[in-house]
Amino acid sequence: MKIERKPSAALLPTPVVLLSVAGHGKEKPNIITLAWAGTVCSTPPMLSVAIRPTRHSHRLVNAAREFVVNVPRAEQLEQVDLAGVWSGAEHDKFEELGLTARQASVVNAPLIEECPVNIECVVRHQLALGAHDLYIAEIVAVQYDEDVLDGQGRVQTKKLTPIAYVEGEYWSLGERIGSYGAAAKASGRR
Ligand SMILES: Cc1cc2nc3c(=O)[nH]c(=O)nc-3n(C[C@H](O)[C@H](O)[C@H](O)COP(=O)(O)O)c2cc1C
Repeated sequence: MKIERKPSAALLPTPVVLLSVAGHGKEKPNIITLAWAGTVCSTPPMLSVAIRPTRHSHRLVNAAREFVVNVPRAEQLEQVDLAGVWSGAEHDKFEELGLTARQASVVNAPLIEECPVNIECVVRHQLALGAHDLYIAEIVAVQYDEDVLDGQGRVQTKKLTPIAYVEGEYWSLGERIGSYGAAAKASGRR
């Protein structure tokens, strides 16, 4: 039997990321926790983030048109949760969360040094959807901590320990259960 619930953001899990953005004028740079984020294009590489217009970060992203999407490790969960409750209007989140702002390589935004993956983005499209504005941004540079890459430069998920968001809860990933194309190869069919 199927149970129908009212339509909601039911696609899960979604990744939990920390978006960092430059301050506007005399304002401090800021960090916002996001779970409405995803990959949307391979070439050019693009991702999307959805931010409510009421957020302090929304104004900063609108002004800067550039940001960094930082992928945190599971051990950074406390900072992730706090950055998703505190507002940059009242808190200097870099300072209060003990995070280091380092100038990104291409965009004018600080990246979070302590996060193992830093994805530098330039906004290409903005769409007002309702509760959230969707930003589609081109990825112009990506930095990795050395320890999350293997000898071939591939991400080691067990070292990265990304955080997944599921209906108000944080989850870690379990075991690898397969590889892309392995089933097709084993079946011998195309
Ligand atoms: C796990 C988690 C996921 C969140 N995802 C989003 C999101 O995708 N979009 C959004 O606008 N706010 C999201 N929020 C809420 C903001 O992070 C929160 O309102 C934050 O305090 C806003 O900071 P700011 O005012 O400095 O921009 C999320 C919060 C948490 C804890």
